[in-house]
Amino acid sequence: MQPVNIGIIGLGNVGSGALDILAGNAAAIEQKLGFPLKVVAICSRGVDGKTFPSAFDGVLRTADWREVVNHPSVQIVVELIGGTTTAREILEAAILQGKPVVTANKELMALSGADLWRKSEPRVHFAMEASVAGGIPIHAVLREGIAADRITTLYGILNGTCNYILTEIEEHGTSFDDVLLAAQQAGYAEADPSADVDGFDARSKLAILSTLAFGELVSPGDIFTEGIRRVTPVDFEYAHQLNHTIRLICAARRTPAGLILSVRPSLIPQSTILAGVRGAYNAVWVRGEFGADTFYYGRGAGPHPTGVAVVSDLMRVAREMRQASGDRVSPFAHAHLEDYVPVPVTVHESAYYLRFRVEDKPGIIAQLATALAAENISIDAVLQLPNANWRNLPFVITVEPATEAAVRAAIARMAQMNFLIEPPLAMPIEKAL
Ligand SMILES: NC(=O)c1ccc[n+]([C@@H]2O[C@H](COP(=O)([O-])OP(=O)(O)OC[C@H]3O[C@@H](n4cnc5c(N)ncnc54)[C@H](OP(=O)(O)O)[C@@H]3O)[C@@H](O)[C@H]2O)c1
Repeated sequence: MQPVNIGIIGLGNVGSGALDILAGNAAAIEQKLGFPLKVVAICSRGVDGKTFPSAFDGVLRTADWREVVNHPSVQIVVELIGGTTTAREILEAAILQGKPVVTANKELMALSGADLWRKSEPRVHFAMEASVAGGIPIHAVLREGIAADRITTLYGILNGTCNYILTEIEEHGTSFDDVLLAAQQAGYAEADPSADVDGFDARSKLAILSTLAFGELVSPGDIFTEGIRRVTPVDFEYAHQLNHTIRLICAARRTPAGLILSVRPSLIPQSTILAGVRGAYNAVWVRGEFGADTFYYGRGAGPHPTGVAVVSDLMRVAREMRQASGDRVSPFAHAHLEDYVPVPVTVHESAYYLRFRVEDKPGIIAQLATALAAENISIDAVLQLPNANWRNLPFVITVEPATEAAVRAAIARMAQMNFLIEPPLAMPIEKAL
């Protein structure tokens, strides 16, 4: 059988992983497809300094992505460079030529994926499995596996760096700054960690997954986002006292008011399956009205897990091309997407964990309780671990379910209290898991 010819642009972590798989698993891929996938062009800025499996001797090597897109033999273009500028140009150029595209680019897909897809109709196939949760085939699950269900809730742990940092703090009592530094030195975290630790990477992934799950076109900017910088070892001590742990939870909930979306550190029960997700692993937990709960777990990143996602996309797209029916399945899992009307997270009701750091003196609890009572918030428990340092005393108040708006208003009332040495840290306590 004639091969389907591939051009790959971007030969870093994901690109090199995809090449390893295309070379090392070529026979099984051909057995599954009934025809081979053949790499005919590869591109990166520093391509000349790189070495490749011998299977790729003789393929076009170039630093200019246009040579790949314009190559007359290239039938599918794979974009693995990241970012939103050149990557967008690559996709637009490929689409213009009617060439299907495979990408791992969460940032670009979250911002403009649906737009690019619409513009590409009706000719071009499009695939982006690796853009969320690397090694977990969660797009395929939402697009096909549980497409018949009506999803009500989706929770994800979608950033491996954050999950690694949080579980290191939890297991070793190390501070956020020290774990981050060690992770940077070991190459697990970027030199500029903001996209990870401030929640922006997870936000792009949640935007993509909620669009697939709920059929509403969500933009990253629609999602309330808080990172993990303020989580400390003492928060894990208190969370454990409450039989909970802390994870950066990406949450999408269908409510009567609409879809409520957030990315934020949250307390989750230690008994929930999500609490067992440790280190750089990712997971997605989905509740459907008909099919109830399903759970997906695996590596969120890395050359080979992400490479598997990219090559599996290539196989699907190559099959669709061969079938030549003209029918395409949207990578966003819906023939038509509705507009998303953002629902502010402030209407969401939850129990909350409030952690204070104070200079100890009599009457503190009474003043904090007054601020909470003024917003109609009931205290559930007050927790204080033994601590000799009365000048920097951490303690926790948990409160009964209240709206985020009420909790924020109570915290605003507390701003004038001069015994607080930093603003209170508020995290929701997830009960629905
Ligand atoms: N890393 C993961 O595990 C992972 C997981 C899921 C999704 N993703 C996504 O996959 C994509 C790639 O990530 P990565 O980690 O593989 O990135 P990476 O290691 O930084 O590799 C990027 C590659 O793109 C090349 N490149 C950049 N700009 C280029 C340009 N203008 N022209 C030609 N080549 C260019 C680089 O070339 P030179 O090195 O030669 O300069 C490099 O080979 C991103 O969208 C990322 O978000 C990554």
